[in-house]
Amino acid sequence: MRKIIIDTDPGIDDAAALTIALNNPELKVEMLSTVAGNVNLDYTTENAKKILDFFKKDTPLAKGNSLPMLREYEDASQFHGETGMNGFDFPGSKRELLPEHAAVEMKNRILASEEKVTLVTIGPLTNAALLLSMYPEVKQKLAEVVIMGGSTIDGNTNTSAEFNIKVDPHAAQMVINSGLPVTIFGLRVTTRALLTKTDIEKVKTLGRAGEMLYSLFTHYRGGDLEKAGLMMHDICTICYLLKPEIFKFQQTQLEVAVDGPAAGTTVADLAGRYTAAKNVKLAVEIDQKQFRDWMLAEISQLK
Ligand code: BDR
Ligand code: CA
Repeated sequence: MRKIIIDTDPGIDDAAALTIALNNPELKVEMLSTVAGNVNLDYTTENAKKILDFFKKDTPLAKGNSLPMLREYEDASQFHGETGMNGFDFPGSKRELLPEHAAVEMKNRILASEEKVTLVTIGPLTNAALLLSMYPEVKQKLAEVVIMGGSTIDGNTNTSAEFNIKVDPHAAQMVINSGLPVTIFGLRVTTRALLTKTDIEKVKTLGRAGEMLYSLFTHYRGGDLEKAGLMMHDICTICYLLKPEIFKFQQTQLEVAVDGPAAGTTVADLAGRYTAAKNVKLAVEIDQKQFRDWMLAEISQLK
């Protein structure tokens, strides 16, 4: 069983990633933490509580940063709806949060863990960067950082920048250059992690969790349900932990632009012409059919 911490900004694809991660017996989710991203921090935190309540999980939850390091905060409510998880009538939650900021709570759990922990980030990297800069001693207890972010094709906020990196490029730069083993899933792969309209209709028939995800998916604007399908960006990180053979990777140097009109853009030195250094393991291919079959199989096993 692999111990993980997930830092998230639910968000509809986040909700689906959490659904699978919290319920798969091969993963032990030590805690969740929330960050401002798709919607503001109050909404992302309430949404994380709703998912934990839905599956009756006692996974600890900590609230993180409400703003990026330096840049002005911009949300993605045009894709995820005003509250970030519109479409399903979750009851209000009475769940209590951990008392400290996410970076402190992550540090406490990582240092207390006997085995190394994997940090999975599926929102902007603000909390992760704070963790690594406030408590660099955690690095020796981290096995890997698995990130959904960046693009080496077009962007989804402008012509080149992906949302999670664009929100907080300074934080992304800190984590990517932390010296830790970083595995990163950018738009080259995640825009091809698709569920088609037929798949989404199937999700609806897959029990209580399937009905909940179906309601969220029908309110999600990440992709085109009538044409190519909906993009399951964040789920790629969880799929990788469970079925890494679905992806192909290349070790490379990934640079993040932090200023000016290109801020949030990531550039990969895939041909090795710029430097011999390699700071990430970049996902470069996905087996689309295997991904789709895996995701539907995971949902069908949920209670
Ligand atoms: C990323 O941005 C968010 O909208 C999604 O949840 C995902 O984490 C995709 O660019
Ligand atoms: Ca996300």
